[in-house]
Amino acid sequence: MNARELKNKFVNFFVSKGHIEIPSASLIPENDPTTLFISAGIQPLVPYFLGRKHPVGQRLVNVQKCVRTIDIDEVGDQVHHTFFEMLGNWSLGDYFKKEMIPWSFEFLTKELNIPIDKLAVSCFAGDNDAPKDDETALLWKDQGIPGSRIAFLPKANNWWGPPGITGPCGSDTEMFYWANNSPTPKNFDPKNSNWVEIWNDVLIQYLKNDKGEFEKLVQNNIDTGMGVERTVAVLNGFSDNYLTDIWQPIIKKIEEISGKSYSDPQYQKAFRIVSDHIRASVFIISDGIEPSNKETGYVLRRLIRRSIRQGKLLGIDTNFIAQIAQAVLDNQNNYAGTYSELNQNKDKILSILDSEENKFRKTLTRGLNEIQKLIERNKNITGREAFTLYESFGFPVEMIQEEFSKNNLRLDLTEFEKARESHIEQSRTLSAGKFRSGLADHSEIITKYHTATHLLHASLRKILGDHVQQSGSNITSERLRFDFTHPDKLTDNQISQIQNLINQQIQKSLEIKRQEMKFTDAQKQGALAFFGTKYPEIVSVYSVGDFSKEVCTGPHVTNTNTLGQFQITKEESAGSGKRRIYAVLE
Ligand code: ALA
Repeated sequence: MNARELKNKFVNFFVSKGHIEIPSASLIPENDPTTLFISAGIQPLVPYFLGRKHPVGQRLVNVQKCVRTIDIDEVGDQVHHTFFEMLGNWSLGDYFKKEMIPWSFEFLTKELNIPIDKLAVSCFAGDNDAPKDDETALLWKDQGIPGSRIAFLPKANNWWGPPGITGPCGSDTEMFYWANNSPTPKNFDPKNSNWVEIWNDVLIQYLKNDKGEFEKLVQNNIDTGMGVERTVAVLNGFSDNYLTDIWQPIIKKIEEISGKSYSDPQYQKAFRIVSDHIRASVFIISDGIEPSNKETGYVLRRLIRRSIRQGKLLGIDTNFIAQIAQAVLDNQNNYAGTYSELNQNKDKILSILDSEENKFRKTLTRGLNEIQKLIERNKNITGREAFTLYESFGFPVEMIQEEFSKNNLRLDLTEFEKARESHIEQSRTLSAGKFRSGLADHSEIITKYHTATHLLHASLRKILGDHVQQSGSNITSERLRFDFTHPDKLTDNQISQIQNLINQQIQKSLEIKRQEMKFTDAQKQGALAFFGTKYPEIVSVYSVGDFSKEVCTGPHVTNTNTLGQFQITKEESAGSGKRRIYAVLE
């Protein structure tokens, strides 16, 4: 059975039991700043477990895209993934255990044709928060699961949720498959890794509140989850998920590019990491994320960088990420036909991956040169110096280690870690300081960005031409965003010219002056005004040396030398004929 067939079977089965299929939610949670990614199908549905009516009904089923970043360092073995698809069905205050257990049994044994002898289940053992779940165990026995294949386990094993700090949760009952050719042991031993968990029915009866207590919910709910990757693997007798149809086209592509073979054990880890991380990156980008140094963007950047590094271990030294992404997209059997966002964003996905790869390859070359210089100079690099390489070049630690060992040097990891920890500590103290100093600082940085916006506006006109008109501006304490009329994407060269021109003005320590005058006089003097805005008769005009003159209400700093370093972090379209720039002061 391939992945497509499994997904269809699951959805059709629950549709036949009165469920409505809902589309997968985006990987990026809406209205939930506490988590970066959706990691289970229940997450976008949380409000409906608390009693709110779902618009399509009380019985739902879907295939949900999920990302679990907690597993990122585990990827490389046979079973861990960052992105995966989860099959799930839900009862929102409708059916409960009595229906769910027979359905689970029916699906496993009739639809997936798993012999009953290969199945075992676990139920909740009970504690102070909730009682032992004998009822569920009896329901399993009614289906023919013998007592010797039922284990009662504590909260650590048989409780799920809440997905955040507070929210819906409950005890669960998990189903295991004997994934080995040897005869199935009579007794279920959950510690034996041949028993692979394939499905989890969560009995959502509680709300964990902000005091950490479990309150009984007004309704009984069901939330189930079955991982597509793992289930397809075990049903096909593979202990390695990457041998399934989900991964093979991607792996073949890597084999083609690298000339290495997946069957060679020394390369399997690298093959798996590249396949996993690029598949995840494709999906993350198609949900609107771009590589950056923060949050979801940073996870994406890490996934791409780790793939490039693993590619290097496979002997790939030129851009290849977009080709692997193409193999993910071409995998019609599984993805492109199902997730329209993949087709819609195809070009964007490939170009973002390619330009991120370009950037990182440049960094790598610079970092490698730097390591060589250090090695030649003192033949002995301290953990602290290694940390500086890591910090300034975003150079992965493993790579520093590799370069060291090539030159018969050993990286002092303890010292490296010490340097890293003290750095983290410092930045914590800094941001705590920022926080403490509160509004004063906040408005000061905003004032700086405001002045920087004037410099940017004037520079854009000087470099790109007088057709540039401001069409929007937005400032936070972390960056400025500036929209303006211009037909084309800015080239790297134009961006660096603009940036340089601004930084020159900052270095010139230009004074900022404010004058009041008639709006018509301001216009005569060539002061810039925000197109389309109605101005009063008398306005203030701010000038930055002779460089910029703008009608504006302020406030502004008094001298450019307080601004620091100006850096453009992103340039993108802001609609037809308009561009948008993000920039920071450092
Ligand atoms: N939400 C449950 C899980 O992720 C089904 O296992």
